[in-house]
Amino acid sequence: MADLTDIIQQVKRANDIVDVVGSYLELRQKGTSHWARCPFHGEKTASFCVSRNLQIYKCFGCGVSGDVVKFVQEYESLTFMEALEKLAKRANIKLPETAREHQDKDYNERKKKQDVYFQIMRETAVFYYKNYYADRGKIARDYVEGRGFSADTVKKFGIGYSPDMDSLVDYLIGKGFSLDDCAKCGVLQRRSSNGQYFDALSRRLIIPIFNMQGKVIAFGGRGITDDVIEYGKYKNTSDTPIFSKQNNLFAINIAKEQKQQTALPNIVIVEGYMDVIAMYQAGFKRAVASMGTSLTQNQANWLSRLTDTVYICYDGDAAGQKATIRGMDILDKAGLEVKVMSVPERLDPDEYIKKYGAEAFEKLIEKALPLPDYKLQLLDKSFDIKSANAAKRNDALQKYVKGALIMLRQLDDVRQTQYVAEVSRKTGFSQEYILRKLRTDFQDEPTETTVSSTQSSPEIQAKYFVAACVLCNESYAVLREKPLCDTVFLSNLYDYLLKCYEQGEKPSADMLYTVCPDATDGEYDAIIGVDLSAGRKKQNEQYFNECLQIIQNEELLLKRRQLREKLDSLQGDSPEYFETLNELAEVSGKITKN
Ligand code: UTP
Ligand code: MN
Repeated sequence: MADLTDIIQQVKRANDIVDVVGSYLELRQKGTSHWARCPFHGEKTASFCVSRNLQIYKCFGCGVSGDVVKFVQEYESLTFMEALEKLAKRANIKLPETAREHQDKDYNERKKKQDVYFQIMRETAVFYYKNYYADRGKIARDYVEGRGFSADTVKKFGIGYSPDMDSLVDYLIGKGFSLDDCAKCGVLQRRSSNGQYFDALSRRLIIPIFNMQGKVIAFGGRGITDDVIEYGKYKNTSDTPIFSKQNNLFAINIAKEQKQQTALPNIVIVEGYMDVIAMYQAGFKRAVASMGTSLTQNQANWLSRLTDTVYICYDGDAAGQKATIRGMDILDKAGLEVKVMSVPERLDPDEYIKKYGAEAFEKLIEKALPLPDYKLQLLDKSFDIKSANAAKRNDALQKYVKGALIMLRQLDDVRQTQYVAEVSRKTGFSQEYILRKLRTDFQDEPTETTVSSTQSSPEIQAKYFVAACVLCNESYAVLREKPLCDTVFLSNLYDYLLKCYEQGEKPSADMLYTVCPDATDGEYDAIIGVDLSAGRKKQNEQYFNECLQIIQNEELLLKRRQLREKLDSLQGDSPEYFETLNELAEVSGKITKN
């Protein structure tokens, strides 16, 4: 089986990064590099740099960097495998089965079936769309107009209409689809009494739901006449192999499209289809709707591919629900900054915008509370800690602090410090008291201390520098041994560099992103940010040799510690004792500084 890394390398060699990035962004050549405005953060000047030599990109504004696969992955919001496939296709390379099997054994089978479902969904959307503008669609057009949606908005969302039970069945048969497949992807249903198929969303206004790649995966159907609404205001496509309510978000495709035009500062999550549509029309083109379920990990993942801040805008009833808070915690844990909006008068965004206008809605966004503040607000509302009655006040304070501690415990160190102060201010308890409570109440769960202090030790700096010089093929930089590696990142990188050395191959800089796929921007930058320009060659060569010394010294220090420990454990008369002592003396003699 071909190694996945080899396949990745092959695909990358066939896709020059300047050509690929240039097909998405307007690049300007300056010297040996190409420059553009960074697509990953909003900016006016071009600080996004693409290097043909190194086959990597880097933004000097926001610090992101990567190779050609990572660019496509980020820009198109794809998974790594999807990006790789796209590039393979672009270069007419057939990915070996093994590469896909890496992910999934039944990949091909499933993919074929899914393609059929996608075609059915697409044709069905076309059918509904045409019917919206046909004679029988007048009732739908009147309804939509009555709600104030413009023709452009309707087009943008691909809104349609289902005229009756049977027309869609005939249409899909005419297109050559099997009715069984049509039922499997949810557009048709089968009557159990006589086995007849019918349109699942018959006589409803149709709102297509697209996935991130812009494919129709489901429909929402709103009843617009009482006899239909009687069976539910909305009826949605049931869960199918290509759609589940919990794993998708309505209008995620539009948010993605916006991200491609300008970096998305945030996304607003609302409850209803109509809210998203109304917001779009009012100029808020970054709203998505969770379709009546609480938020899931999967949805959090989609969102975090597009932005780093999300606003939750649920009506009072829903926001108060337990599951809603859990959903917010899921988003928070996914690394998203969560802010909670509240719309007054129990209005939904659509109603609020209609009543008070887009600017008033913008104010609501500005006033949104960070999740911890929102939780404190809930505590405020729940317990009357300002009560005039001392006994009541004490009781309320205790309950408030208990809740606050639970909230505080979920925060990272920095925010914890900040909110301990806040809770102290609110309750009148000292910060020390709250901190003590925080420790003692959860003694059984020790908080992990991070090792970030070693991040900038001279040894680690030396290892980054050496790796950078070797990776970029500096003439003086030779690597014969792997040093002690403190992080997965360094360890993987050195494994790669050593492998190149052993096989007599030149390393290539862009492989950094293949051999260390999950590193942070900071880690990548510690390598590719090293200034290896020709003018610095002499200094760099000297520093390189110093670094080798530093690295060696660290190993000797470790060795010495181990030998001393061994010595302690040995009996004085053991023959090994003096051997070890001998070794210790030799190691100690080589150590240049402690
Ligand atoms: P809402 O009732 O708030 O929907 O339900 P809405 O978008 O504001 O609709 P309008 O303004 O009354 O036309 C929120 C969401 O919950 C789901 C839908 O996804 C809806 O957009 N829902 C609601 C259903 O699936 N079925 C229902 O019967 C009601
Ligand atoms: Mn509504």
